[in-house]
Amino acid sequence: MSVPGRCSARGWLCCAAAVAAAVMGGDAGAQGDGAARRELGREVFLSRAKPACAVCHTLEAAGATGAVGPVLDELRPDADRVAKAVRNGLGVMPSFRALLSEAEIEAVAHFVATATAAPK
Ligand code: HEC
Repeated sequence: MSVPGRCSARGWLCCAAAVAAAVMGGDAGAQGDGAARRELGREVFLSRAKPACAVCHTLEAAGATGAVGPVLDELRPDADRVAKAVRNGLGVMPSFRALLSEAEIEAVAHFVATATAAPK
């Protein structure tokens, strides 16, 4: 990734936007801001988690079609259930505790729960 190259080509506005996005992402978990937190959650689901949740799970809101684990649109887990599975792992699913921050785990749990409109 050559971010500096991209930024110098596009001017300082590009860098300012990148910094703003990074700051918002960092705050998402702590502040619980709906849109930013959801965006972070989607990013964790699609790419920040390694292997990504999307590799193993189907979730329409993320455009994910993985078929190793349960279809989350059908399971409709609440945020606590998602967070627990992500922290501890379950069966074939690995634990992401060492890989993701608390804010990232909470964001992905919030994202999955709201995307599937989990019944409370
Ligand atoms: C390597 C494949 C794999 C990856 C990567 C993976 N999962 Fe899973 N996941 C599974 C499997 C398999 C199960 C079913 C485990 C079982 O019931 O034994 C599961 C179960 C779950 C469940 C249901 C938990 C429950 O209480 O029944 C949730 C929610 C979930 N995963 C979310 C996620 C999220 C969010 C991520 C990314 C941070 C993720 N998974 C990454 C394979 C995966």
